[in-house]
Amino acid sequence: MPSDKQKITVAVLLLVSFLSYSFYIYTSLPVKESPVSNKASEGKQLWQQYNCNACHQVYGLGGYLGPDLTNVYSKRGANYISSFLKSGTAIMPNFHLSDSEIESLTAYLQNIDSSGKADPRTFKIHFDGTIEQ
Ligand code: HEC
Repeated sequence: MPSDKQKITVAVLLLVSFLSYSFYIYTSLPVKESPVSNKASEGKQLWQQYNCNACHQVYGLGGYLGPDLTNVYSKRGANYISSFLKSGTAIMPNFHLSDSEIESLTAYLQNIDSSGKADPRTFKIHFDGTIEQ
């Protein structure tokens, strides 16, 4: 049967471990702050207005008719995106967007692309369970 002194020592050790681990976790969050331009926030509003999310996902969330667009900017580039939005395809509707709307949607897609990678297969998993993108 452990003595009261031993119990207190264990409790203090657990408390110190908890506090140090919490400090470590909250001071080393892998969150990147990226500034949002006016164009990008207009693009987000258009994204909602035209309900792009009904067919597309961002970080895997959304409809599944079209592909996940989180990293479409780095994968395809601005020119591909704007020509795609200008004409649509047999399954992707042509929304008859203005040039300025296309610019904003492209800026939004660029912004979400800079926030990280959506495909978990590209993640590096560390021994402590944290991930690196
Ligand atoms: C009715 C469903 C639907 C809606 C709504 C929709 N899309 Fe699409 N989108 C698709 C489909 C399906 C594809 C794949 C088409 C193909 O390859 O022919 C696609 C492809 C794309 C691509 C090219 C992706 C790639 O990697 O080739 C982009 C960019 C895109 N959509 C952006 C948008 C944006 C921005 C909106 C909102 C303004 C939107 N889409 C709304 C169905 C949709």
